[in-house]
Amino acid sequence: MITLTLAEVAELTGGALTGSPEATVPGKVTLDSRTVTGGDLFVAVPGERVDGTEFLAAAAAAGAVGAITTRPDDALPCVVVADPVEALGRLASGVHARLVDRGLLTLAITGSSGKTSTKDLLGQVLATAGPTVSPPGSYNNDIGLPLTVLSADEQTRFLVLEMGARGRGHIARLCRVARPRVGVVLNVGSAHLGEFGSSERIAEAKGELVEALAEDGTAVLNADDPRVIGMAPRTVARVLATGRGEDADVRALDVTLDETARARFTLAAAGEQHPVTLQVVGEHQVANALSAAGAAMAAGMTPGQVASALSAAGPRSRWRMEVSRRDDGVTVVNDAYNANPESMRAALAALAGLSGTRRIAVLGGMAELGPDAAAEHERLGRDAAAAGIDLVVAVGADAVGIADGAAAAGRRTGEESVHVPDRAAARELLAEALRPGDVVLVKASRSYGLELLAADLLTAGVLPAGDAA
Ligand SMILES: Nc1ncnc2c1ncn2[C@@H]1O[C@H](COP(=O)(O)OP(=O)(O)OP(=O)(O)O)[C@@H](O)[C@H]1O
Ligand SMILES: [Mg+2]
Repeated sequence: MITLTLAEVAELTGGALTGSPEATVPGKVTLDSRTVTGGDLFVAVPGERVDGTEFLAAAAAAGAVGAITTRPDDALPCVVVADPVEALGRLASGVHARLVDRGLLTLAITGSSGKTSTKDLLGQVLATAGPTVSPPGSYNNDIGLPLTVLSADEQTRFLVLEMGARGRGHIARLCRVARPRVGVVLNVGSAHLGEFGSSERIAEAKGELVEALAEDGTAVLNADDPRVIGMAPRTVARVLATGRGEDADVRALDVTLDETARARFTLAAAGEQHPVTLQVVGEHQVANALSAAGAAMAAGMTPGQVASALSAAGPRSRWRMEVSRRDDGVTVVNDAYNANPESMRAALAALAGLSGTRRIAVLGGMAELGPDAAAEHERLGRDAAAAGIDLVVAVGADAVGIADGAAAAGRRTGEESVHVPDRAAARELLAEALRPGDVVLVKASRSYGLELLAADLLTAGVLPAGDAA
């Protein structure tokens, strides 16, 4: 963070300071007392399981120079506020305004799927042009986004933000913390459909990002998704369309996939053409790469610079199409960070494109789909069969429809389409079933914890059968 005095922290957050106003915060801002090191500012947030205010003394002992809290503690100077998360947003907003005055360019990304993947590509591309803040992971909410903003400093030239939404007004609120100059919308799918109620409402919420842009800004919109390019009238900013079609400003031509499911294409933009070879896995990354390219061009990079930086960009965040090969020749694809119908299909398409003897999809449930959940799981099972997956293993009660769908599409129950009750049963089955040359995709919504299964598959060439999940 830029160095602030506690008096400035109090002023920006509207809090009341106990202790010395001159004390400065040379370190970072953190919500976890275990990560505090000397000079940090600790934000005590009341969580579902733990109350941050119980850790004020621990934060002080670890070297925190102050805290934002609802309840002051003698252990360290405190900025007392009613709502620490809101205060964190205000602090970030104040710091962001100062950094923008010094020339910081902020780019924000939203969409139903691929925000983190695109942020990671864009962060790596921009880093070739100047100091960039774009932390790995998915810091896209009222806590993560301000923390990302606060990790920028006077040296930062580009700030890449991920913006998530579970309802209307969420993205507008994040844009009030850090108003972007470049806003990227990737797609409108069915993530959190249960909470939103309909795709139209999801589009309405995602479009708040382009509504927040000013006239000197750029909206980078995916022209291959009608709901996204349909947001163009909602912004006063310049629109840069990305996509495969002729109407896009930034296009991918001649897309091919190699035997590791990595895409090659020609980036066509601003009257130029440049070859791109992606290092990240799956055809869905072409759309993400085009969105990143549009944003980087809006930030002043040339198509040639963008193409070579995209070709060098690797995976940055865990559990997204992480491809690893075991000593015995089994390939494990860990895509267990999250799942919704679109990202499941993207991952299945990537699996189908990977070379191997058999393709095996180990799939858990997709959460938060609302009333259509059962039908969506069944449809996915059918699609897995249609994509040519040799064995579908559905894990857990919520995933039973996937096995049913695969069976309905002709996969033999118990042989090519199997339902198991839990992770332990999946491990046992796979210990028996896996052969050298097999490629295994592991994917589910995050709450099902299948990344643990993927990790188990990797650590065990031959798995111990039957131990607890
Ligand atoms: N453009 C895309 N279209 C469809 N699926 C995608 C796309 N990009 C990534 N995915 C899939 O979605 C999964 C999650 O990707 P990523 O973490 O980038 O999304 P996110 O939007 O950041 O998710 P979250 O809402 O959880 O933050 C990936 O593992 C991949 O399976
Ligand atoms: Mg994310």
